[in-house]
Amino acid sequence: MVDLDEFTVTDATLEQMASTANPRLKQIMDAAVRHLHAFVRDVDLTPEEWIQGMQFLTAVGQACTPLRQEFILLSDVLGVSAVVNALHDRKAKELGSQSSLLGPFYREGVPELPLGAQIVEKPTAEELVVHGKITDTDGTPLPNALIQVWQTSERGLYDLQERNGESLDMRGNFRTDADGKYYFRTVRPKGYSIPMDGPVGDLVHAQGRHGMRPSHIHMLIGADGHRELVTALYFGDDDFIDSDTVFGVSGSLVVEAKDDAESPVKGLRAVRYDFRLAKAAPGESGRVGADPTTFMNKAAE
Ligand code: BEZ
Ligand code: FE
Repeated sequence: MVDLDEFTVTDATLEQMASTANPRLKQIMDAAVRHLHAFVRDVDLTPEEWIQGMQFLTAVGQACTPLRQEFILLSDVLGVSAVVNALHDRKAKELGSQSSLLGPFYREGVPELPLGAQIVEKPTAEELVVHGKITDTDGTPLPNALIQVWQTSERGLYDLQERNGESLDMRGNFRTDADGKYYFRTVRPKGYSIPMDGPVGDLVHAQGRHGMRPSHIHMLIGADGHRELVTALYFGDDDFIDSDTVFGVSGSLVVEAKDDAESPVKGLRAVRYDFRLAKAAPGESGRVGADPTTFMNKAAE
């Protein structure tokens, strides 16, 4: 019989877990236990605080629905998703365009639209064109690449919030043309608050944070043989450009709408962005996040 204290219990736990057959699971769980135990000792966690933590995580789980993933939101506001993205970008074989967060409002299976289509059903603000090229890292155009786009309306809400998930708006999937070019019409999305009506919002409030994201357009770009790119373009003049609650903004992804002689649509201001996709290593995925509907189905398997 050994007498365990707050230090030796860490070794005892690691010793019991030493029989884990999957080496990667073992590596992850060993590190998780070492860091968790060190954290508990570091803050000298009391039993009441431990219970409060369990209640918080329970509430995060209970807030998840087929349309809402509160755990991803928690990961986002704690900066964990941004760390995973940065590590993922660093592992690429080549330097492609930078990643950003997928966020909780991505949906699979959105219909494809012809190049140039307006993705907003009833635009009530200035229309913009978004256009550019999708290429390899050496500049070779990628024809027939799939570019999935989603954003908030000019009111700062996604269709899932304005329409309760019953119909699609402010979304569209496009294919690049033979020269790797894409373009579509939209309106400038409004920056918005992350969902603040759940336990993660309570935490963000308790931390005195504003909960806002700057205005942005999400894109998920895929082409055969290339790393999928999950990213977003951010409007540089937004008030929250330097204080994104979920740490998705990088300088290389900041854009502005301006007059553009090269725009494929005349008479509208344009946002131009060329994306570079790195070649894929076998079996890698580029997503940090998931369509919450598929996420829930997987959890139930
Ligand atoms: C979004 O950009 O849609 C988003 C990302 C993280 C948390 C909440 C929203
Ligand atoms: Fe977003």
